[in-house]
Formats: sequence, C-alpha cells, structure tokens
Amino acid sequence: MFLGISMLGLIACSESKSIQEYKIIPLPNEIAERSGELTFTPGSEFQIQNTDSAFLNVATQLQDYLIQKYRLKPSAHAKLVIAFEKTDTKNPEAYRLDVAKNEIRIQASAPNGAFYAFQTLRQMLPSQKVYQSDQKAELKGVEISDAPRFGYRGTHLDVSRHFVTADSVKRFIDILAMHKMNTFHWHLTDDQGWRLEIKKYPELTEKGSRRKRTVIGRNSLQYDTIPHGGFYTQDEVRDIVDYASKRYITVVPEIDLPGHMLAALATFPELGCTGKGYEVSEKWGVFEDVLCAGNPKTLPFIYDIFDEVLALFPSHYIHVGGDECPKDKWADCPKCQSKIRQLALKDDSVHTAEQKLQSFITQSVEKYLNERGRSLVGWDEILEGGISPNATLMAWRGSNYAFEAAKLGNKAILCPNRYYYLDYYQSEDIDGEPLAIGGCSTIEQVYNYQPVEDSVSQSLQSMILGIQANLWTEYVKNFNQAEYMLLPRLAAVSETAWSNSPKNLDSFLDRLSSLTDRYDDESYNYGKHIFDVRKKLLRDTVNNTQSLELSSLGSGRICYTLDGSEPTEKSTQYKGAIPVDKSMQIRACVFREGKQTKILKQNYSFNKATLKPIVLNTKSYPDYTFDGATILNDGLGGEKNYRSGYWIGFNNDDLSATIDLINTTEIDVVGVGALVSTADWVFRPASIRIAVSDDGKEFKTIKEEKLINAESDVFDIERYLITFEPVQTRYVRVELQSLKQIPDWHPAKGKPAFLFVDEISIL
Ligand code: ACM
Ligand code: ZN
Repeated sequence: MFLGISMLGLIACSESKSIQEYKIIPLPNEIAERSGELTFTPGSEFQIQNTDSAFLNVATQLQDYLIQKYRLKPSAHAKLVIAFEKTDTKNPEAYRLDVAKNEIRIQASAPNGAFYAFQTLRQMLPSQKVYQSDQKAELKGVEISDAPRFGYRGTHLDVSRHFVTADSVKRFIDILAMHKMNTFHWHLTDDQGWRLEIKKYPELTEKGSRRKRTVIGRNSLQYDTIPHGGFYTQDEVRDIVDYASKRYITVVPEIDLPGHMLAALATFPELGCTGKGYEVSEKWGVFEDVLCAGNPKTLPFIYDIFDEVLALFPSHYIHVGGDECPKDKWADCPKCQSKIRQLALKDDSVHTAEQKLQSFITQSVEKYLNERGRSLVGWDEILEGGISPNATLMAWRGSNYAFEAAKLGNKAILCPNRYYYLDYYQSEDIDGEPLAIGGCSTIEQVYNYQPVEDSVSQSLQSMILGIQANLWTEYVKNFNQAEYMLLPRLAAVSETAWSNSPKNLDSFLDRLSSLTDRYDDESYNYGKHIFDVRKKLLRDTVNNTQSLELSSLGSGRICYTLDGSEPTEKSTQYKGAIPVDKSMQIRACVFREGKQTKILKQNYSFNKATLKPIVLNTKSYPDYTFDGATILNDGLGGEKNYRSGYWIGFNNDDLSATIDLINTTEIDVVGVGALVSTADWVFRPASIRIAVSDDGKEFKTIKEEKLINAESDVFDIERYLITFEPVQTRYVRVELQSLKQIPDWHPAKGKPAFLFVDEISIL
C-alpha cells in the first residue's frame, strides 16, 4: 500500500525541503511535505489513541517520553492526538508516520514498525536545548513511509575483554534502538573472561570471569595491578533480554568456541589438549590453547552450556564463534589425532584434517542447535574445513567470505573489519585519541561502504541477511569509551542497514549534526571529528602541481597558517584550495561560536622527487592502494597508521616505482619511509635497490642494501637513507623487496609480511 518502490531514491537525489527540515538518520525511504503544522509548548495536553493492544508497549514508551522530555500532559480531552493504527503491511518493521495540525498518526502492521516511527519522531521533535530556549515545538506537516533495507541490522559488543555493567548494556541497547538496529550480538566469552552465569558450572564465573591484572598498552610486557572481573547472573540476562525485546531488539548470544576459550580452560583444564597450565588471559591476542576436540568430555560440556543459553535467549540465531582457532595443539595431541583417524579426516588441497576437525565440532553443535529449533551463526572461519548447509556466516575478514558462503547456499552477515570494526581509530590524526587497536575507519569510510554492489546477482543478494558493526573491547576500558567508539559511526552503519536511498555523504553529514544534538540530550559520549577541518589533497598530474582543499561542516570559519604556528581567528581565512608548491607546515582549524576545533596539521617537505611524474611498476595490495603512486611523492609523510591513506601497502609483491625528474639532475641520496608494525605482520623491506636511467628504459643499478629484519616487536616509522656517489640522471627507479617469510619468532612465521611505504625522497 505505502512503500511504493517507484518513489525510492527520487527523493534522496533531489533532497526535498522536508529532508532538509527533518534531519533524520537513517534516511527514510519517502518523506513528503503536507499542509498543516503541529505545535505544542510545555504543559500542552495530548492524548494517545490506540485501538490495538499490540501497540501498547510502544504507545506507553512514547507517552512517557513526551511527558518526561517535553513536559506534555496526557488528557482524554486533548485536541492533540497521537493515533496508532494497525495495517496489513507485509513487513512488520515498516511504518508510516504522518504529522498534521493537531495530529500525529503512526501506522504499522506490528509494534516493531510503530517503534521505528517513534524513533523517527524523536528526531523530528526539537532537541532539548532548542526546546528549552524556544519553549515551543513546531512540526511541519509531513508524510513518511519507511521500511528497512536489511532484515538483520546488528551491533556487537565484547564484554569479555572489558566487562560493563548490566545498566551499561541497557544503555547500549538504547543506543541501538535510537539507530533502528534490531540485533544485539553479545560476545559473552573469550580468553580474558567468562561473563555468563552457567548454573551447572558455577566455577566458570567464579574463576573464569576474573583475571588478576591486565597488560598495559598494546601487549607491552608491563601489567597493571588491577584485578578485572564481572559477569551477568541469569536473572540479569533475562532482564536484559526483556529490556531489548521491548525495544524490538533480538539478543544473539555468542559462546566463542573452540578457540578463544582460555577462561573456560583455566576453570576446567582437563578440556584442553595438554590438560594444564591455563590462565584467564591477561593480555590480548590469539592463543594456541583451545578446547581439545578429541576429548570425549568436550562436546557434552558445550551442550550443557547451550542448554542454559537456549533457555535464556529466545533468539533464532545462536553464535558459536569459530574464529581464530590455531591448530598447533591439535596437531600434537594424541586425543585430537585419534579423533581425526576415527572420523577418517584427511588433508586435501583445500583443507587440513585439523580444519576438518574444527568443522566436525561446529557441525555437531549446529546439529544440537537445529534439533532445538535454532540456527547457528559463526565467524567466517567456519568456511574452513567445510561449512554445513544450514549455518549462517558472519564475514569479518572481508566481504568476500560472505559471497563465498552465499555461493555455497549459506546465508551471511557482513561486518568487514576494514569498515565495521568500531574499535579502530575514527580519525587519521590519532593525536589525543584514546589508544585503539589500530586501523582507521573514519565515519566517511564507514558511511561509504557498499555492502552489496548492484552487480551482485539477485540470488546472491537474497543470501545476505544484513550488516553489523562490531565493538571489540581490548582497548575500550569502560562504557564511556565504548560510546565514544560507537558514536557517531553507528549512525553511518545504521543508514546503510536501513535506508534504500542512494548514498549521499553530504546529506548524511548535514543530518548527522542534528542527530548529535540528540546524543547531547541523552548525554552520550561521541566523537566530534565531523566538526573538525576536513581536507583533500588535489593532485594535478598534468601540470605537476597539488593543492590542499579544506572544508568544514555547518557554520564556522576556517583559519590557517603555513609556517607551523597555531592559527588564531586573525590568521588567514580559508577562501579556496591552498597551493602546496614548496615545503610548508599547514595548520588549520575552525572557529565556531567562539570555540576552536582540533588543529589539522599537514607538513609538506619538498625534495627533487616531489610532484614529479611517478609510476608504480608493481601491484600494490588492493585494500591498501588508496590514491596510488602519487602518495609516494606528495611531500607528505604518514602517521603511525597504515590505513590512513598516506601509505601504500604490498603483500607478497615488491614495490618498484619509477620517478621522472624531467631534467637530468645530480642526485646522491634516496630516502624511503616505511611503517613497521610487527603485531600486524608489517615488516621492514628485505632490501632496497636504486637504479638510474637516461631514457626510462635501460636502468643501471647504482646501490643495493639489504636490511636486517625485526627480531622482536616493533611499532615505528623507519626512514632509510640510501647514499651513493653523485650521479647525473633523469629517471630513478626505487625497488623495495617485501619480506616473503615472516621470521620464526612471530606467530605468523613463514607467511608473507606486509610492506608499507609513505614517501620516496631524492636529494
Ligand atoms: C574476530 O574479529 N576475531 C571475529
Ligand atoms: Zn586435543
């Protein structure tokens, strides 16, 4: 009836007046002006008309909200009516919301849709700050028809690495509800703490929920002296599940197995391959000690746990983890090897026998769940060793795993780490940011991620249930910081999950500044990066020039300096792209309502290579190519973040770049900057070779240096200067060999290392 497909997209493209006036995230499918205006003031009377008991829960929440936040008064005789009407729309999450003089009409076939209408209405009402100053709300007449793009809209929270209270979990659920997310993936167990009370095994929380101390920083060798612990009683869990269901959010519990089980092994060592020496982990990472797959007690133990999990969580999907399960201990364990023989599992060209053993465990648990009417979800490693037909895959290492599963007939959920891991930094400039796991997913990157390209066939598209943002908490020490990592990036995920309209970043950012007013209303802690100066380096490869374009959101003046001094309101006001034609230190910020944003810092250092024509002769790693070769001689060095776009990455391939100095030039030094982050498999180049040529065809090697690679953890930017006898040349070729085998001391020994380079300079 409403949700006419033909209208989709039209409105978002043309950005109707209503969209500009009502800044709603996620963007509704259809939003149209209508005549009439609704006004109220503190003390105004209103009445809810509800003819269906199914809407009682939503109607009550809306009524309480209007009373508490807008000081309205319920009255059976009020002229202002909020009417709930049941329709026969197929999608229970669809709704229609009409505002007219003295009337708000909410239509849906189920309370889910009505609840989403309420969430939309929240964003149409004035923020508390505006209401307090105006003492009045004015809502323009509007008709909104809306329904989600994806049926699965998830957000994950890891409570093992850092425990948060049951009240914080409810606050997390409130945040999800505000963003029309409908699934809370609760990561309840991991190496660093077991957080779910299991009546049959009280030791799991008595012992397994506690660690004596926690490593400081990124697995430094130092530890704090603070015991960390906590778990949820079954009563608390029931209360949380109920709280979520009143907000139309399904809680999907995760018991991560057979890896990430040190908390359980510390409690029941006999369930591990070696049977001893386990501790609730005090540091982060992937650990070799996992559940013994050959021990006859292992599966019954898992089933016992799931008996209680199923009684607590009514969700159709049950998450069993399956990620990051090293097979080293299984390879050496007589019980595991005997199980492999008993099951006649053999290595083949695709999977090892040990991978098939993990598959056996997963499929056994799946059968157990299926027999009880539930479905298994697992991380994308459940593809290894063979995935069973009914399992749903959660693709975290890349979207490709989801489509691989979909091709096999399995359903999938997309949460690729590069975009949807909200424990990554949200800013390229990490100065002043709380320590994060690394990476960088700015809100723009999160927003622009397209989960399913149009070119994907309909049959594969139908296997993608939806998307999910994940918040791992190794570096998220408390819930306040969790809010900061989640918001506002969750708004970008939510728009992708919900809206059918084509993406429009400018429109999204414009609407976002209105949503952040609602975050202020709820005292949510959120990242303010969207209000900072934004930058774009424009390179003209025809004329060999570049300029820096600056912009900012909303009102405010951008002021900048070029000499490294701090900008003030009296500094040069930005009027257009700044030519970057020599060494300079740009500092810029926005002055808005007497306040100053964070200062953008860009240090350009020019040398003989800067801005000269450059070509890359080898293949960079697709995910880490960014703007390509020109990154290497833009005069700008990178920060300690290889995902920032200032670095080019290589894996198993070498870097070979040729720079045309245009004129024959005397040179005697080549400088190269590399980021080394061994924890992320990023190593020094194995060697650097410099070759020169007068014609760009015949090259002569003039210097080659081999580098000794890291023998312990390194996280640093290293700058290598290769010096040689002065030589006259026009073309310079710089070759960096990547390390093909990570050394033995490293957990990824034998695998090809990544190489990241930010800049090549020639002196
Ligand atoms: C994961 O991030 N290990 C699923
Ligand atoms: Zn074993």
